[in-house]
Amino acid sequence: MDVLEAIHNRRSVRFFKDQKVSDEIIFNALESALWAPSAGNVQDKEFIVVRNEEKIRKFVDICYDQTWVAKAPVIIVMVSRINLLRMKFGDRAEHYASLSAGMAVENLLLSITANGLQGTHVGLYDEDEVKRLLRIPEDRKVYSIIALGYSREETVVPKRVNLKAITFFDKHGRKWVKKVPRKTY
Ligand SMILES: Cc1cc2nc3c(=O)[nH]c(=O)nc-3n(C[C@H](O)[C@H](O)[C@H](O)COP(=O)(O)O)c2cc1C
Repeated sequence: MDVLEAIHNRRSVRFFKDQKVSDEIIFNALESALWAPSAGNVQDKEFIVVRNEEKIRKFVDICYDQTWVAKAPVIIVMVSRINLLRMKFGDRAEHYASLSAGMAVENLLLSITANGLQGTHVGLYDEDEVKRLLRIPEDRKVYSIIALGYSREETVVPKRVNLKAITFFDKHGRKWVKKVPRKTY
């Protein structure tokens, strides 16, 4: 699967098969996240791979009653050693940490997609509770919870807005009117 196919095949899946995910697939996904851009190449991220079923069940409450999370065979929590960014970028640290976390998450999701799995980035969670459960040091900031596994069913493809309606040419508001050949996936 090439990268464009992975981009288009990636879906936020919330129903998983009862099938083990190999360490190799997880490690490759983390490696993909590591190779995402990071501000100043600071590489502030850390990853916690959660397989323990009891702990995974606790994420339902942590994620404000998202019950589907309990069925994920693997949860990856991505945190930032944000102090490293503060030392280098001061007030811009939060902004940079957030942006590069997003890039790392997408790389991770594309990597698992290429290996036939799917996952969902969960952004709604109680950070203090995540830290308590996984004993994450106080100075870290939690940026992502990714619940992943083998998809149990074909997923509905959520619609996207019309690209031309949100793309401008040379200045905001000047519509992109040129015809461009587009590949379908
Ligand atoms: C910042 C962010 C937070 C999200 N939080 C949640 C979440 O808490 N729970 C959830 O089920 N999906 C969450 N999602 C996934 C979105 O719902 C999903 O990406 C969107 O519906 C589009 O579907 P697709 O990813 O399959 O294209 C989040 C996505 C992003 C980028």
